[in-house]
Amino acid sequence: MTAADAAIRVDAVSKRFGRTLALDAVSFTVPRSGIFALLGPNGAGKTTLMHILCTILRPDSGSAEIAGFDVVRQPLAARSRLGIVFQEPSLDDRLTVLENLNLHGLVFGVPRRLRRQRIEEMLDLVELTDWADKTARTLSSGMKRRLEIARALVHDSEIMLLDEPTAGLDAQTRQRIWAYVRRLQGERQLTVLVTTHYIEEVETCDRVCIIDSGKVLAMDTPDALKRAHGQQLLRVTPRTPADRAEILESSTDRLAYDRGAEIVLKSDDSFVETFLGQFGTRISSLSIEVPSLETVFLSLTGRELRDRGAGVRERTLAFGRRGGEHTR
Ligand SMILES: Nc1ncnc2c1ncn2[C@@H]1O[C@H](COP(=O)(O)OP(=O)(O)OP(=O)(O)O)[C@@H](O)[C@H]1O
Ligand SMILES: [Mg+2]
Repeated sequence: MTAADAAIRVDAVSKRFGRTLALDAVSFTVPRSGIFALLGPNGAGKTTLMHILCTILRPDSGSAEIAGFDVVRQPLAARSRLGIVFQEPSLDDRLTVLENLNLHGLVFGVPRRLRRQRIEEMLDLVELTDWADKTARTLSSGMKRRLEIARALVHDSEIMLLDEPTAGLDAQTRQRIWAYVRRLQGERQLTVLVTTHYIEEVETCDRVCIIDSGKVLAMDTPDALKRAHGQQLLRVTPRTPADRAEILESSTDRLAYDRGAEIVLKSDDSFVETFLGQFGTRISSLSIEVPSLETVFLSLTGRELRDRGAGVRERTLAFGRRGGEHTR
């Protein structure tokens, strides 16, 4: 892929805040059209990178391009190609839904007729037509997010940057938001760069870049990542404490996690057979978990990627070192 084909090009971008190296020589290229996810825990550097791409922060070193425009030297041209949904809410709460959209179209110089047509289309897509005259303040948080997505596409944006578009929303709203994003992507051949720390959301993305402590750890399709770094897991429940002790003793190098009643072992097809031959009568339950992006993250970082506050199932697996959690 040549630079001209790329929607987004990031080349050795570094950014420091005081003693924190938020981005450490990050490089990647996003081809045109498709959904590209940046996956990483709190503090990984995702928002910093988004801010550099949307020209509100300058990198200390390295360079980045949006649709071939350098974000430092040609910020206006780069901005004009972008639709952005910031991590922090950025609607004008005092304006109505329609006024928020209109104002955005005006700022980006979208001619009146086209503006009206786009706004109508976008309101329909995110199912907010009936709310057009309501003040933004009165919308639920999921509706506000939908309005921000609509707003990002009122001007001629071909590249969408979505920073945690679903953070803190309930599971149903998260699914709806993803449905809009996928539909928009397909209909308009958009390039979508989306950050998230909900691992299950990136399963269906075209490419995933895993970022941690400002560094890119891996980047590929979800399937290729799983093939390269994924780990099959075997969950077993020993019948008695003696069975448990024996299983643990014979599997120390395979132990992924000891949850008391349940033991989770790093596995593969031949191991399952061996294990069953040896301990088949000494366990009361067994399940095999296929390699997931969760285990990809675990094996790359030694830590679990925690989901926060989204009501998704508790994630308790951990390999090896259980390092400090990233919190701010
Ligand atoms: N303006 C700032 N001043 C000082 N430190 C900052 C600033 N912005 C970010 N940082 C630090 O840079 C690092 C990366 O932060 P960033 O917001 O990019 O992470 P993130 O991946 O978006 O995290 P989250 O998932 O919590 O949104 C963190 O250690 C953060 O504390
Ligand atoms: Mg962030």
